[in-house]
Amino acid sequence: MKTDHLTRREFLDQTARASAGVAVAGNVIGSEPLRPGAARKRLAMVGTGGRGSSMWGTGVVKPYQDYVQFVGLCDSNRKRVEVAKGLMGVDCPTFTDFDRMIRETRPETVIVTTRDSSHDQYIVRALELGCEVITEKPMTTDESKCQRVLDAEKRYGRPIIVGFNARYSAIAEKTREYVQSGLLGPITSVDFHWYLDVQHGADYFRRWHARRENSGSLWVHKATHHFDLINWIMDTEPVEVNAYGDLRHYGRSGQKRGINCRTCPHKSDCKFHWDITKSPSAMKLYVDCESEDGYLRDACLFREEIDIWDTMTANVRYANNSIMSYSLNAFMPYEGYSMSFNGLHGRLDVRTYDRQPWTVNANAEFRLSLNFGKSEMFELKVTGADHNGADPKLKDMIFKPGVPDPLRQRAGSRAGAMSLLTGVAAYRSIEQRRPIRINDLVKF
Ligand SMILES: NC(=O)c1ccc[n+]([C@@H]2O[C@H](COP(=O)([O-])OP(=O)(O)OC[C@H]3O[C@@H](n4cnc5c(N)ncnc54)[C@H](O)[C@@H]3O)[C@@H](O)[C@H]2O)c1
Repeated sequence: MKTDHLTRREFLDQTARASAGVAVAGNVIGSEPLRPGAARKRLAMVGTGGRGSSMWGTGVVKPYQDYVQFVGLCDSNRKRVEVAKGLMGVDCPTFTDFDRMIRETRPETVIVTTRDSSHDQYIVRALELGCEVITEKPMTTDESKCQRVLDAEKRYGRPIIVGFNARYSAIAEKTREYVQSGLLGPITSVDFHWYLDVQHGADYFRRWHARRENSGSLWVHKATHHFDLINWIMDTEPVEVNAYGDLRHYGRSGQKRGINCRTCPHKSDCKFHWDITKSPSAMKLYVDCESEDGYLRDACLFREEIDIWDTMTANVRYANNSIMSYSLNAFMPYEGYSMSFNGLHGRLDVRTYDRQPWTVNANAEFRLSLNFGKSEMFELKVTGADHNGADPKLKDMIFKPGVPDPLRQRAGSRAGAMSLLTGVAAYRSIEQRRPIRINDLVKF
């Protein structure tokens, strides 16, 4: 983080002076009604890439203009932050220096949408400088960063919201409803298997996600969603994890490789060749900004430096005495998942078989079977855009005042920690060849 290294006291003094006479809305995001005529919440964003400029950018600027306004945008890539500003259609100043942005623009809330591995530094600094925080998942990528975030939240007494959009999909909501209804009896075990296909799955290996130091691997970057869903659906927390992982298809397992697709000598015979020049948005956001940081959005997914796994299984024991068998595979012929809850009185199966469940219609098959009783099946049709309609529901909950939360979908740092630590425990288990207890990773 490029910072001016202000102390917290200096910062608060400066902010207090700068704020004299400026009306600041006093409501906590999403929890209290805005008074008529109250000021709009002042937002700043750090990390203005794909997710930042779209879901939290264009997807917020107009739809939530009555409630919030962007006062600053920051990114380590000087060009990308300008592109994002244009895409979002805002006129706020842009920065490459986070502290300067906070000092000059006085946001109340900071949205953190950088790479996963730098979330912690911006979360902690934003709290320290007097802001509330909304962070993308995963909250962070390892146990020591997680400890820092939890300690900072306690120390500064300001809330962290974690953007677990997957909780808001109609499929997740329906699943929770069944599990919480008690029909299945106490849940004894869960079978949960997630399939990423040769397009979506491969894309993680082209990008920064392909290095553990950036993403904590798919155990954290991707599976944090899945582990959070299980915690939320069953209303429990993980206790112990044992895992295995391999890299069988991408990275060094490939036969041929280049540096990136645009310059690759194997273009004509690689099934994974992706021509980024055909995507105007990717050209603008990434290729046109390469000169600043050298980041190649179309990097070869068979490069030797890749150190994440593409084939993963884990067993997890939970506080509610249930156990889970989980897998994540990243080069499947189709995209989707299979999630079953086994209870003392019955079983719930949930399946989706879509190529791109986040972008096309992701119909889900539900089968509810009771021991010695009926087995009934039905299909739930959900619209595909914006992660099956989950993203707008999450933003309503965060930005619109007074939205009720009967399903307890709002997620804070505890939920953020529990899901990411399941992934951290999984990769530590692979590294150390032993089961890892969550309580041995951080002090809550
Ligand atoms: N919830 C979801 O469904 C979902 C979907 C996609 C991405 N995400 C999350 O959103 C975040 C961003 O992902 P993305 O796909 O937009 O990636 P991206 O590469 O498009 O954007 C990341 C941005 O962060 C900037 N950046 C990197 N390091 C930085 C640093 N130290 N300081 C400041 N800026 C820095 C990069 O220049 C880039 O602009 C990630 O945490 C990712 O896990 C969540």
